Amino acid sequence: IPVEPFDLVVFGGTGDLAQRKIIPGLYRRFWAGQIPADSVIIGAARSGMDDDGYRALARAAIDEFVTADKRDVAVIDAFLATLGYVAIDAKGTGGWDALKGRVRKNVVQAFYFSVAPSLFGDIAERLHAHDIAGPNSRIVVEKPFGRDLASAQALNGVLAKHFNEAQIYRIDHYLGKETVQNLMAVRFANMLFEPLWKAEYIDHVQITVAETVSVDGRGAYYDKSGAMRDMVQNHMMQLLCLIAMEPPYHFDPDAVRDEKLKVIRALDPVKPEDIVRGQYLAGDGQGGYLAHAENKDSKTESYIALKVNISNWRWKGTPFYLRTGKHLRARTSEIAITFRAPPHSIFDDADGWRENVLVIRLQPNEGMNLMVMIKEPGPGGMRLTQVPLDMSFAEALGEEGADIPDAYERLIMDVIRGNQTLFMRGDEVEAAWRWTDPIIQGWEARGDKPKGYDAGSSGPEDALMLMHRDGRRWREIR
Ligand code: BG6
Repeated sequence: IPVEPFDLVVFGGTGDLAQRKIIPGLYRRFWAGQIPADSVIIGAARSGMDDDGYRALARAAIDEFVTADKRDVAVIDAFLATLGYVAIDAKGTGGWDALKGRVRKNVVQAFYFSVAPSLFGDIAERLHAHDIAGPNSRIVVEKPFGRDLASAQALNGVLAKHFNEAQIYRIDHYLGKETVQNLMAVRFANMLFEPLWKAEYIDHVQITVAETVSVDGRGAYYDKSGAMRDMVQNHMMQLLCLIAMEPPYHFDPDAVRDEKLKVIRALDPVKPEDIVRGQYLAGDGQGGYLAHAENKDSKTESYIALKVNISNWRWKGTPFYLRTGKHLRARTSEIAITFRAPPHSIFDDADGWRENVLVIRLQPNEGMNLMVMIKEPGPGGMRLTQVPLDMSFAEALGEEGADIPDAYERLIMDVIRGNQTLFMRGDEVEAAWRWTDPIIQGWEARGDKPKGYDAGSSGPEDALMLMHRDGRRWREIR
């Protein structure tokens, strides 16, 4: 369904995110017929460039980041015709009046702040001072949204001076992933799971986001962040919320975000013994973390595993184990929900018995897998064995399932439609930092060093103990 014609200004329009995600994403939506040709997309950045220069940059981005099946010369030309460029001085006056002349007041207007958070205030202020933004304009901001509670509150404060909460779209691109949204469909559109979705029936939950990439090339940013700030405070927190939240009364922005916020508020502080931090070592001719971060004394973690308890009626007694890291054995993101044992076994030979596990694969090979017990085939008596009920979305849904839009495509279209459901509200981000801060402060105060782990492994050995001592095991990363 096409959206209304809109004006979108991308501050940081020549940056990495714009080239890798925003421009290709907009192009794909244009190709799909969702973006009307009378929309206006303006790149705004510091470099001196004209419209044609920007179109050439966009063409190169499309060539590199859009698959050949969607690259059509005529469509690309039509898309590029919607593009323009304004050189802007975010901290001065240059370019703002020119920008004003390029955007319309009578259409949906969105401003994408794909710039360092230190510029949010300057840009927000100038959009108003130059009478460019109005009460119906929307702004889109990216992570990192602060690096602790105080800085997040300061950013929220700066934005709130010029825009109200209904105008602010804070992106967590995990929420735009098709399979992440599917978590809500699986939970709330089926009768099968929800009655069992509680501590009484669920033994524990594992959330894994394993990456094979190192931090090479972005070591300077990453070293100030680390896995806790880069992945746990935002993406993994969102996954945890979608699994743990109560059913919202409606699939509506505030109803969903209210329920997520309640989960974050119910998280217990994490004890130091429930955290394992790791840093990858050099190997296979590749530099280790310290070389990539260019900081030989760095204590920043490129891996973290932690046990999280939620103190509420639904989850008391069911730990959530979270782990994420760089340079691991495989790229895999999944949520595994392990159910408890039946109260009593009627079978003599319970050797083959294993717990039911519902695995939701977020990427790659999106799908679901339910591990169930059956009788081992054959005449050997009543022996038990476990088999997977495996569903790959691509196979089950055919072409539709294979052609999953990128998270950014979906989210940008939601901005234009004015749907905030998949964006983080200010209080949600602050609550997540309120929980994260003492954890980070704890290891900083103690001077904890991360454990080394081999690049290409499953992470530090100590992470295994985090579960072993509870009589549980991590699922294999593969
Ligand atoms: C980003 C992090 O937000 O998410 C990166 O800054 C990480 O460090 C990336 O690699 C992971 O996203 P995806 O979509 O590849 O799982």
